[in-house]
Amino acid sequence: MQWWRDAVFYQVYVPSFTDSDGDGLGDLQGVRGRLGYLELLGVDALWLSPIYPSPMVDNGYDIIDHRAVDPVWGDLDAVDELVADAHAHGIRVTVDLVPNHTSDRHPWFCAALASPPGSPERARYHFRPGSGEDGEEPPNGWRSVFGGSAWTREPSSEESPGEWYLHLFSPAQPDLNWTNLEVWADLDKTLRFWLDRGVDGFRIDAAHGMCKQLDGAPASPDDDPRFDQDDVHDVHRMIRATLDHYPERVAIGAIGVRSAARFSRYVRGDELHLAVDTRLAASRFDADEVRAAIEDCLESVGSVGAAASWLLSDHDLSRPASRYGAGIVGRARARAMALVQLALPGAAYVYNGDELGLPDADLPDAARRDAVWHHGEDSRDGCRVPQPWEEDLPAYGFTTGEPWLPIPDEYAALNAAAQLEDTGSTLSLYRRALELRRLHPAFTTPAAQDPPLEWFGAPPGCLAFRRTGTTLVCALNTSSTPVALPPGDPLLVSGPLDDGMLPPDTAVWLA
Ligand code: NOJ
Repeated sequence: MQWWRDAVFYQVYVPSFTDSDGDGLGDLQGVRGRLGYLELLGVDALWLSPIYPSPMVDNGYDIIDHRAVDPVWGDLDAVDELVADAHAHGIRVTVDLVPNHTSDRHPWFCAALASPPGSPERARYHFRPGSGEDGEEPPNGWRSVFGGSAWTREPSSEESPGEWYLHLFSPAQPDLNWTNLEVWADLDKTLRFWLDRGVDGFRIDAAHGMCKQLDGAPASPDDDPRFDQDDVHDVHRMIRATLDHYPERVAIGAIGVRSAARFSRYVRGDELHLAVDTRLAASRFDADEVRAAIEDCLESVGSVGAAASWLLSDHDLSRPASRYGAGIVGRARARAMALVQLALPGAAYVYNGDELGLPDADLPDAARRDAVWHHGEDSRDGCRVPQPWEEDLPAYGFTTGEPWLPIPDEYAALNAAAQLEDTGSTLSLYRRALELRRLHPAFTTPAAQDPPLEWFGAPPGCLAFRRTGTTLVCALNTSSTPVALPPGDPLLVSGPLDDGMLPPDTAVWLA
């Protein structure tokens, strides 16, 4: 059963979901305590942000041991309990996997620093002598995604001038060398470790990374030697071959590449099951842009017979309720885009808090924690603030302690308990949408339709499509005037209709 083809994955950003022990950080028992809520919401699967031992320079994406749990989140028993309970609630559990890099405190990296240039310990990473007379310049001009050079030099000593190591993200995240067979074997071990524990799959971080053309041509608009190199597909084939030994497990890659054609290569039959990218999330609230992003994604996956997957936000992106506009306009547009996203054929990802319509939090500089902030880039903390569960202070049911990021006052009114009671809330909209998606015959798509959706003519600033072979029509109005509804009975509207017309900043499902 290919359950993941149309599943709704709910991203649990573990630090900010629910804290069960009062240390101000969310944890696995906290997630476990919310399974009733998640079942009520109607999601099919969870994607847990990294739970592995980590110095937390990049909030857990800097890993010391890929086959253990950081005590701050719980322990392996807590994982087992969460997986078993989630399964009992009909919810599958996928976990983040970070094969591109480790922490600089990983035993391998510590051993590398303690070993001489040319040693097998160093060969698991990318160490190079510097350029310039005394090796004081980085080996090449590569930039880190987080800003600054992608190279950091180890301290020089009398005996050795000090090599440079590659890190495409922060200096605390040295890149693994994927031409080294030990690195492959270790990932295979990690996959089996979690699969044997019963997890249902992986969200693979920077899945277009791993392989680099370190000694090739410099970057050009057509080729970034840091990412999306042909060899990476061998890594995905290895991952898939391992997963294929376990029934119904899924590999989902986070992919950022330069074209629909390049994207499609990751979801060929023997590679990833699904790949998420940020094309839909990158579109402004503009019908033409949204349609172009949808068509582009469908073209990529359709060319290889894979299912599409749709993401509006995650822990790296500004939240839809802020990104599409300020205040009530932003929230109305976010609700409209949620209906567009959830009407599209394929899998969908909902980032925790978006079902509450949370805006980005405007944090004082002193409260910011994000590694990229410390490298002078925009901080991602605003979308990572803890979830409000109830109205009560001190922390709206998130923790009895001091939340790791301050929760803004405006989150109080958006708490989940109040929204569950309010039929007009964003949470109620999501619940109804997921219920219809699961149960309404209009959503029953006959297997593999080509094309998977049909576009209707729509007034300027609007779009309307139907899932092929079904009666489900979704229309979106991004213009500034109300427009006539397409034919059909409205099933769900993201905001009130205006005298039978579809108002601006609104989407509707009809059957
Ligand atoms: C992508 C993750 O989503 C992001 O949060 C992280 O900083 C980088 N990969 C590095 O692991």
